Amino acid sequence: MARLTPDNVVRAHELIALYPEKRSALIPILHVLQEQDGYLSEDGMVHVGEIVGLEAVEVKGTASFYDMFHFEPVGKYLVAVCTNIACMLQGAYRLLEHAEEALGVAPGGTTADGMFTLEDAECLALCGNAPCLTVNWRFFGDVDPEGFDGLVEDLRAGRLEAEVPPHGTLSRVGRRQGLRALPPGGPGRDEAALVGEDGAGDGGSAANGSAAAHVAPGSAIDLSTRRSTAATAVVDAAHLESPK
Ligand code: FES
Repeated sequence: MARLTPDNVVRAHELIALYPEKRSALIPILHVLQEQDGYLSEDGMVHVGEIVGLEAVEVKGTASFYDMFHFEPVGKYLVAVCTNIACMLQGAYRLLEHAEEALGVAPGGTTADGMFTLEDAECLALCGNAPCLTVNWRFFGDVDPEGFDGLVEDLRAGRLEAEVPPHGTLSRVGRRQGLRALPPGGPGRDEAALVGEDGAGDGGSAANGSAAAHVAPGSAIDLSTRRSTAATAVVDAAHLESPK
């Protein structure tokens, strides 16, 4: 798969309609492309550029700024082990080495069955539950080697499919709202939280751009999953707005 499917072209135009300028929909449409193929192919980015009126180099130049986009195929589950300071002090390198041995790949590698890609990540903002990792951007804290083995076993067996969807899958909120929030206090306010009950998949998009300015001061963004450590971020919209 390379170019967007006809259905996804329709989704792209629906996203464009949410913004005053076509190119403002670039990041949301790239998420759709990544959901379709699991990564951003060169042809796919050319197609997105045609749709939003940008050169392919501008599309890739923008996409490559964001950690959540991938430019080559990755596994069904993207396992990112934090090795930053808090996690390092709590045994992150022991955990990462264990993950390498358990999966049989080095960071950046994908298992032969295409199930897991392992990454060595910078701070994932769950320092209070170090060492931690994310699987497709869903948080798991206080992970020791035994816990890692249990997590991999559960993922392989499909026991966590409800809370850890395949890599690239957009949250229901992201799909409905084009990765943006409704105006504060408007209808569906609860459903329109930037990150919904089905995970943190759109957190990266939520944390930047004009969408952040639409988050009501003090809005709670629930990043919890049933199994992982609950992590709730409170966003101060005034703080996120551009400097006057
Ligand atoms: S140092 Fe690991 S989450 Fe912050």
